[in-house]
Amino acid sequence: MQLIEGKVVSASVLDQVKKDVEIIKEKHGITPGLEVVIAGDDPASQVYVRNKVLKATEMGMHSAKHELSNETTQEEILGLVDKLNNDPKVHGILVQSPPPPQIDERSVIDSINPQKDVDCFHPYNVGKLLIGDEDGFLPCTPNGVMAMLEHYDIETSGKHAVVLGRSNIVGKPMMVLMSRKGKYANSTVTMCHSRTQNLEEMCASADIIVAAIGVPQFVKENMVKEGAVVIDVGINRIEDASKKSGFRLVGDVDFDNVAEKCSYITPVPGGVGPMTIAMLLKNAVTACCLQHGITL
Ligand code: GUN
Repeated sequence: MQLIEGKVVSASVLDQVKKDVEIIKEKHGITPGLEVVIAGDDPASQVYVRNKVLKATEMGMHSAKHELSNETTQEEILGLVDKLNNDPKVHGILVQSPPPPQIDERSVIDSINPQKDVDCFHPYNVGKLLIGDEDGFLPCTPNGVMAMLEHYDIETSGKHAVVLGRSNIVGKPMMVLMSRKGKYANSTVTMCHSRTQNLEEMCASADIIVAAIGVPQFVKENMVKEGAVVIDVGINRIEDASKKSGFRLVGDVDFDNVAEKCSYITPVPGGVGPMTIAMLLKNAVTACCLQHGITL
């Protein structure tokens, strides 16, 4: 069994991001900029957003965080997005998901300028992804998974991949990326979700499992074929009285019991997590280049 180390793979992506940022600054006098909007006080989201801004700054980019209260209104968020759409120093805009329940997230996403949509959440970019038009953005977490498969030179062509979960952020775009043409793609993908009847057998027949269902330690030993590749996208907090915080992080895979059977597996934390930020910053550089007609 080999561990897929998100820290190692993301470091190589970030290395390139840093170099690209330096070139854009030196040759074009432009600083790539990413601004992030967060509404509400969800502790996990707060941590993610803080890390995104810190990492962007570390890469030499301009970055800022806009914090809105739990009681924020649709008008307030739309007004802020409009301001960022029209701010030339902001090349990428990210609105952290999920927003508080009074917010219609769909219409917030629709209001982001597609050229600044570094999450690849806007229908224009989702459509481009689906038809295989590759001059835009790729969704951060699924593209991070693809970068891991590539880094470890994992054969995916013709393999049976099971994607667990049908979210817009991970499951659906993951299915598109794995089944498209190309190296480290060309997989036969089965999407499974909460209503799938023979989910355990589906998983047990998979060469590659991508777990993104948000249920702690859902994928058990009997659901994994000997030699399978298991990618765990889940990040769940479970109670743990032995920790000072009172909780610990686990994925959607029962790692301790599954790992032995795998050819490759991602840990949680330290697996897919760091990839999302790296691919986000890569998209922010792409956004800057698109908006200024820069080819690197
Ligand atoms: N919430 C969880 N993951 C993400 C992400 O990649 N982007 C945004 N905007 N919100 C998220």
